[in-house]
Amino acid sequence: MDIKTADRMIQDYLSSPEDFVIKETVDGIDVVRFVLPEEIVKYVELKQNIWRSEWNKHIEDGEQFPYVTHPEVLHLSRSITELFLEETMSRLGVSEFEQWASGKAYDVGQRVMIPDAYWLIGGFNAKLMADFLRKKGEKKKVTFRSIGTGAGVYERSIYEQFSNFSTLTTDISIHSCVISALNLEMYNVGKKSRDKISVYLVKGRAPVELLKKDRTVVVQIADCIDALKWDKEDGNSFNAVGLDNFLPYLPEAYVKETFELCLDLLKADARIQFLGLDKTRVIVGELYKIGQIIKGGCADRFKKAIEDERNRMDKEGKEFLFGYEVVYKTDSTDVIREVKTVWAGNIFDWVREYIFSFRIKDALIMNKAIKSATGLSTLSDLVISLTADHFKILKVLLEERDKEYDVVVSPGSEREDGKKVLRAATIDVK
Ligand SMILES: C[S@@+](CC[C@H](N)C(=O)[O-])C[C@H]1O[C@@H](n2cnc3c(N)ncnc32)[C@H](O)[C@@H]1O
Repeated sequence: MDIKTADRMIQDYLSSPEDFVIKETVDGIDVVRFVLPEEIVKYVELKQNIWRSEWNKHIEDGEQFPYVTHPEVLHLSRSITELFLEETMSRLGVSEFEQWASGKAYDVGQRVMIPDAYWLIGGFNAKLMADFLRKKGEKKKVTFRSIGTGAGVYERSIYEQFSNFSTLTTDISIHSCVISALNLEMYNVGKKSRDKISVYLVKGRAPVELLKKDRTVVVQIADCIDALKWDKEDGNSFNAVGLDNFLPYLPEAYVKETFELCLDLLKADARIQFLGLDKTRVIVGELYKIGQIIKGGCADRFKKAIEDERNRMDKEGKEFLFGYEVVYKTDSTDVIREVKTVWAGNIFDWVREYIFSFRIKDALIMNKAIKSATGLSTLSDLVISLTADHFKILKVLLEERDKEYDVVVSPGSEREDGKKVLRAATIDVK
């Protein structure tokens, strides 16, 4: 199918969409599934393939990103999320609509368009988790617990690398849960049947039966503490727990309770991983961005800036945290205004290419993506506890329980390694 036919087909479809939210009952509990119609599957597959090759052409080491999403697929996802939401609420009898941070879960899903906003979650953390689950899966069935599913970027990034396990993931917001379930369902597009996953949405307690199945994800609408307490009552246990970009929005007492419950639910030799925003703001100046795009050759020039920074750090015996090579410039109010990474250079050069080949609409779409992705750092206004402190809380709890553990990745701290936007931690618990 050519692009024009695909575009026309999707417009026709959206003008009179069918209902593709299916209700089932498992263990006496109502769940829903999204069954994507053939038109959407074909459209998404076509667009995804185009975007993957564009991405790999423009982004250095682009293949290492677990998945990419064409901007038009992101746009389509928004339209069908609205349809799904209404249907899901009526099927599951949810009367209260909750969306996180005025609909910011959409922007969270858009981070996959900007490598710097996506890499630590999808490339670094999700890879560490997928490698761990794969190794576990060599011997036994593997179960994963995730909380704060948001747009499901983290879970999907893991499944893209290893899929033979089951996941229970939770979010307090129905809006986030629907966006996440749709993103996870999109994972199946273009996959061989043996790699496909089944995605279920549930309100409240999750059917234990579903967690026994491989390649299954249950997206649960619930508060994290309630959900973890139900897990205990239902006898659920997990090989790993992932708390992606979720803990910083909770006060420390809540974080402590979450960790305590997670530790109760871990199987032997398990992994805990978490990641969160610091209170750092990034607002890339428009003038800076336009100036760089006009100048061109950004990736090469930024490489040079990074090399200089690496030499400077070498002299101080320091290393880039998480191997993430970046040069920041802050203004007098401590806001990061300039970001130099090879990938930022790649994106600027990509926009420049669009402008100079008169693809103005595409250039504007990319510019909007840069704005949404960097704008995500404004979520730092909602941050009330810090990842470096979460790490300390967890270590105290592990020591109180006399648990042996290995720190696979330490989040560091502002005192040790300066300003950072995101911090990550991975701990293996014996
Ligand atoms: C930044 S998003 C997470 C991003 C996500 N991990 C991803 O991969 O797309 C944070 C999410 O935490 C959820 N959240 C906040 N407080 C919560 C709570 N008490 N229980 C469950 N989820 C919560 C929000 O609704 C929001 O969707």
